[in-house]
Amino acid sequence: MVHIFIVLTLLIKGFCSFEDLEMDKQVEQEANRYSDVLLLDYYESYNLVARKVFGFFRYVNQSCPNVKCVLKGDSDTVINLTGMEKLCEIMPDNNLTITGYYGWDKPLRDLQSKWYTPYFVYPIKTWPSLVSGFSYLLSGYGIVPRLMNTLETKTSFFTSENFRRLWEDILFTGIVRDLSEIPLVHNTGFHWGNKPDYWWHEGKRIILALETRTDCTESCSTEYAWNLVQANRRENNFSTFSSYECHLQTLREVPDFRNSIGSSLVRSQARNL
Ligand SMILES: *[C@@H]1O[C@H](CO)[C@@H](O)[C@H](O)[C@H]1NC(C)=O
Ligand SMILES: *[C@@H]1O[C@H](CO)[C@@H](O)[C@H](O)[C@H]1NC(C)=O
Ligand SMILES: *[C@@H]1O[C@H](CO)[C@@H](O)[C@H](O)[C@H]1NC(C)=O
Ligand SMILES: *[C@@H]1O[C@H](CO)[C@@H](O)[C@H](O)[C@H]1NC(C)=O
Repeated sequence: MVHIFIVLTLLIKGFCSFEDLEMDKQVEQEANRYSDVLLLDYYESYNLVARKVFGFFRYVNQSCPNVKCVLKGDSDTVINLTGMEKLCEIMPDNNLTITGYYGWDKPLRDLQSKWYTPYFVYPIKTWPSLVSGFSYLLSGYGIVPRLMNTLETKTSFFTSENFRRLWEDILFTGIVRDLSEIPLVHNTGFHWGNKPDYWWHEGKRIILALETRTDCTESCSTEYAWNLVQANRRENNFSTFSSYECHLQTLREVPDFRNSIGSSLVRSQARNL
């Protein structure tokens, strides 16, 4: 069976803070009802997305390290689950790979930019090859434990707040992947931007992931994406769970999880305040 996990990166202002208790309540209700939300204990901010994605990988590392495929998708990206299942099936079982759409190659050094990276965080001129974070597929049994091991032994993630502020795709699909000697596969079906692109497979054009943009007039509009979601529902018969083997648990069911989610991260943040 193919195991796919999706992480939704919710960039909601006030999420899990006193600012929006109603939202917190709804998320908790969803989590308790469907066990499909992993609640992580940290501050929601654009600079801390790598920490969130780490929390997700750490969960996989602890609770289901032996899955073949792990998919990361942003909440503004529509995923063709049937297509992802198909892609996962044809990926090798034991050769580890990260598949996605090639992203930026150079750190931005413009102080005004939202994506500014200081030299003291990353002094090299180019990033290792990486794929865009809207969605990417990790495949091969044991890939997440391998990445977590590299993160722990070969990077300063656990000791450097600056390092943890690198964007998650640069960190996980670029730096950590490269240090783990895991190859990257470019697949145009994971498109992002204004025009969707396709994965050509067995003579068919397949959209694997689509970044939705409300200002988009072509086939990346919200409406188009919604149709894609509905088609996915039909194809996947969503009323039943596809994977009982790695059922997500809520914080309530895992009382230790709140403490175990990188206590060093919490400490280091306190130091910087
Ligand atoms: C990943 O799991 C292994 C085996 O349980 C454990 O030794 C390691 O500390 C875990 N890594 C992280 C970052 O949680
Ligand atoms: C999604 O993937 C399935 C399975 O490969 C494919 O049949 C379908 O056409 C894809 N949908 C889109 C919109 O590309
Ligand atoms: C797995 O990797 C090895 C070494 O790089 C290569 O020789 C082999 O062909 C790969 N297997 C598959 C199924 O891709
Ligand atoms: C689709 O889901 C319904 C309701 O859960 C179930 O009765 C039916 O057998 C499913 N069909 C397939 C093809 O899995």
